[in-house]
Amino acid sequence: MTCRLHINVDHVATIRNARGTSYPDPVRAAKICIAAGADGITAHLREDRRHIVDADLVGLRAVVRNTLNLEMAATDEMIAIACSLRPDVVTLVPERREERTTEGGLDAVAGGESLARRVRSLLDAGLRVSLFVAPDETQIGRAQALGVQQIELHTGDYAHAKGDKSAELTRLGRGARQARALGLQVAAGHGLTVDNVEGVMVIAEITELNIGHAVIADALFLSLDLAVSAMRDAMNRGLARRS
Ligand code: PXP
Repeated sequence: MTCRLHINVDHVATIRNARGTSYPDPVRAAKICIAAGADGITAHLREDRRHIVDADLVGLRAVVRNTLNLEMAATDEMIAIACSLRPDVVTLVPERREERTTEGGLDAVAGGESLARRVRSLLDAGLRVSLFVAPDETQIGRAQALGVQQIELHTGDYAHAKGDKSAELTRLGRGARQARALGLQVAAGHGLTVDNVEGVMVIAEITELNIGHAVIADALFLSLDLAVSAMRDAMNRGLARRS
């Protein structure tokens, strides 16, 4: 039994954009993730382009040969970008300008006809579509009615639950089983870390995880010492040239 791991490289771009530099490059990060065994790369193009920008997606599309998962809001602008970029999966997420990250699942019911029309545009373009939803029976039922191939269960409530997480895990398990019974593929993500991912992995119906923030954060401490050494080496090369 396997579960695909897609790494979300948004926060590489967050660090880059904080300084307006060309580094660190999320495309380079994607190559490292794939070389390290990631099954795919996830990137969220937000309306305000606060991290990933359009040019990153072009770069990612050129190097990601396994699975490129484009997260985006269900807007006409984003639908046009997806149809031109042709990612392997489009995950529709809710988006609010003032939020720090995607805070809740998509309300596929309230999305009504405008969401249905945009989902149809993506499906008609031959794209695979996933909806990022809470583990909620009505939302999952609506996702199937919209004709998407996949859902991604929002694991934020599980990740942020203090103490006993079993109630949230039960909700996730129930949602995953409902979705599978309806013929949907089941991904999950948001707030997952090395400390909490194990519980989610026990749910057999979940076949893909999308994880970003914690992996990029862990990367800092797994290699900060190497970065300090690289800077010391560069300084030493300059020192050796002093007369
Ligand atoms: N899946 C979706 C749909 C998301 O919106 C996000 C956050 O961008 C993630 C997964 C990754 O969440 P995190 O960065 O907390 O791992």
